[in-house]
Amino acid sequence: MILIRNMKNILALMAVSALLCTCRMEKPAVTESTLSVEESIYGYIANEPVRQFRLKNASGMEVKIISYGATITDIIVPDRNGKPGNVVLGFDSLAGYLLPENPYFGSTIGRYANRIAKARFTLNGKIFTLDANNNGNMLHGGFKGFDKVIWNAEMQSDSSVKFSYVSPDGEGGFPGNLNVQVIFSLSSANELRMDFTAATDSPTHVNLTGHSYFNLSAGEEATILNHELRLFADSYTPVNELLIPTGEIRSARNTPFDFTSLKPVGADIEKVPGGYDHNFVLNRNDDKLQPAAELIHRSSGRGLRIFTTQPGIQFYSGNFLDGTLTGRNGIKYPKYAGLCLEPQHFPDSPNQPSFPSTLLNPGQTYRQTILYQFFTQ
Ligand code: GLA
Repeated sequence: MILIRNMKNILALMAVSALLCTCRMEKPAVTESTLSVEESIYGYIANEPVRQFRLKNASGMEVKIISYGATITDIIVPDRNGKPGNVVLGFDSLAGYLLPENPYFGSTIGRYANRIAKARFTLNGKIFTLDANNNGNMLHGGFKGFDKVIWNAEMQSDSSVKFSYVSPDGEGGFPGNLNVQVIFSLSSANELRMDFTAATDSPTHVNLTGHSYFNLSAGEEATILNHELRLFADSYTPVNELLIPTGEIRSARNTPFDFTSLKPVGADIEKVPGGYDHNFVLNRNDDKLQPAAELIHRSSGRGLRIFTTQPGIQFYSGNFLDGTLTGRNGIKYPKYAGLCLEPQHFPDSPNQPSFPSTLLNPGQTYRQTILYQFFTQ
């Protein structure tokens, strides 16, 4: 079943055009609304449908999002010659997204993006024990994070879809019933915007993000090592061997972590044991939407700017991809096949008093925005 949301607009335009036609006796130009959302069924989990939404604009950009994990499966953008290409890693069908080894391709991550040390925190004198799904720590919300649930979804307009999920008190070990919404909107200027909101009925910690793996070559290059990256961050949070921040905020200047101006991802990667998997501290004084990252792929001419309201961005260079996972079009994704740029609060903030707080109290509304702006040069 396919619903075309902009049909009403087309009919209205046709009616207006017909009116103009009778008055002015001229042949009308029937102009379509330039943005559209189509809905279809992507697959089933048990008997429950997983829905897919396809957002399109007139500038050649197309985004597909499924209700399982509020997951972005496709982002198609033109290169400098107008040739479209899919710039995110993903699978051909729902079965891929359900694999236990799916490394969060395109997922919405919650309740807590990244790691919480020893899978626990203390809040108002009470210890909360969380799912320990990553070397004794919690990663990305636990065994069944927001990436592994079916979200409710509704079209909001000709360019946006709202996903919502109620995470019950105790899920993954977190306190509070958490009511979460993510609105995805596509603009005619090739921007995909994600607006996150959440509210709780008991004090809790929240850290939401998006986990797309970008490769702007759209299949032309097997890895992202030639992509050039700029991060609007002078410093980063060093980690221990289990990728838990030590608590230090260290200058990135003149180190392999220095992305203060455009630099190929591969330039210093060998100097970083395991590759990049670090939270960068964004240069900012307020929580307004501002640039966090810029990624350029020279030969296709595709570029991506990421804006956010969040204080940090996790730069993960796809280190755990190892050629065993078969993705879209039967391609086996090697190490560094794609990179993630995940705007977020810093990892392990509930246990790090010097980091910006991730605490959400009843009566407050959690609000964060991530914007992907695609361009060519
Ligand atoms: C995040 C983490 C990485 C890794 C990926 C998923 O980006 O920081 O360490 O767990 O998710 O593979």
